Amino acid sequence: MGITDLAIKGGPAAVTLPTPGWPISGDQEVAWMEQVVRSGQWSWLGQHERAFCEEFAAFIGSRYAMLLANGTVTIQCALQAVGVEPGDEVIVPGLTWTATLQAALDIGANAVLVDIDPETYCIDPAAVEAAITPRTKAILPVHLYGCMCDMDALGELARRHNLKIVEDVAHQHGSQWRGKGAGALGDAGSFSFQQSKVLTCGEGGGITCNDPEVYETAFCLKHVGWMPDLATPGNRYGHNYRATEMQAVLLRGGLRRLEEHLRIREENAAILSEGLERLGGPLRVARRDPRVTRQSYYCLTLHYDSDKAQGLTRDQYAAALGAEGLGVSPTYPPVYRHRILNLYDRTSPVPYRAPGSLQNYAELSLPVTERVCAEEGLVLFHTQLLGDRAYTEQLLEAARKVQENLPALRDHFAAEG
Ligand SMILES: Cc1ncc(COP(=O)(O)O)c(C=O)c1O
Repeated sequence: MGITDLAIKGGPAAVTLPTPGWPISGDQEVAWMEQVVRSGQWSWLGQHERAFCEEFAAFIGSRYAMLLANGTVTIQCALQAVGVEPGDEVIVPGLTWTATLQAALDIGANAVLVDIDPETYCIDPAAVEAAITPRTKAILPVHLYGCMCDMDALGELARRHNLKIVEDVAHQHGSQWRGKGAGALGDAGSFSFQQSKVLTCGEGGGITCNDPEVYETAFCLKHVGWMPDLATPGNRYGHNYRATEMQAVLLRGGLRRLEEHLRIREENAAILSEGLERLGGPLRVARRDPRVTRQSYYCLTLHYDSDKAQGLTRDQYAAALGAEGLGVSPTYPPVYRHRILNLYDRTSPVPYRAPGSLQNYAELSLPVTERVCAEEGLVLFHTQLLGDRAYTEQLLEAARKVQENLPALRDHFAAEG
């Protein structure tokens, strides 16, 4: 095979089978949707919302679950429900989607960003410990992409320093640590059901928890101040962060498929991991911690080693793979540098904080986060883990093809300037 066979040079792509589509729905949702439309109850804790909350709590292994408008207000309500108040410090990873940081800032907490673990790209427990002060109230670990946070280490830190844990599980519906569901490992769990997520209703979010007080407070915060019986006023300043029956219908359908999807994705992740390892190229899947007994994949977490790429940068390599049909993207940027997060705009909560009370995000530099975001981190979206064996083999074939043409690709990019 020569350079002209490479898809980036106009040759045929290695992946010819279609990538599975997303989102997926079935006849059951359509039937339920019709029933909801005709029922006249479109919101306010209807039959499907109640059923979904029970089913989701059972799936996660938590005592309670509730449905909200999205996976950002879930973080806000969960943090407040576990006792975070304005001025309290909440420890947040430097690599996450902007919503994690925004949610903490928007409830008046002082979000303290810390570095990530170089293997999992999740919050580094040693960095958390170093950031704890007498004002620290909570840790906000994010189970990012396709790796879980070290929940043993974080749990131990929380116990020793009397801190709360709110897990951001937007990426990992169904992950399990030592057999226990993500979202049931701390004081509360926050889920996003936005369209790209592995359990989705377009937009939506969920909170899971075990403590009845946390449940009632979070409910009251999202349901304009009413308690879960919908008749008793609570004692918190609530908002309308409710979801609808239509969202609940889509989630109930998705939940019925989720276990099977999780199994397929885990199987394909293992095939890709072994295949890339055997290939010995610059790309490898992040090592799986043996304490993770089930890994849910919003994305497959990948490491790129430029030393094994004969001078090709991560982004050039990703472009060559993408042309072959194996789509990989860089991670999010460091959250404190994200182009859409205008932290110092006058409409942001940041300028209204007492000077010096907040971390200086403008000058922050977290070394592992920066390196992963700039050079090493790549992710593969979960739909590519939902294909059959033939599709997965084609993904590996794409990696092999690029691997065999590294010098030619280097020349190609050099010629492009
Ligand atoms: C890690 C993480 N946390 C929170 C959220 C916020 O969820 P939503 O978009 O439903 O508000 C997202 C959404 O992409 C996310 O990726």
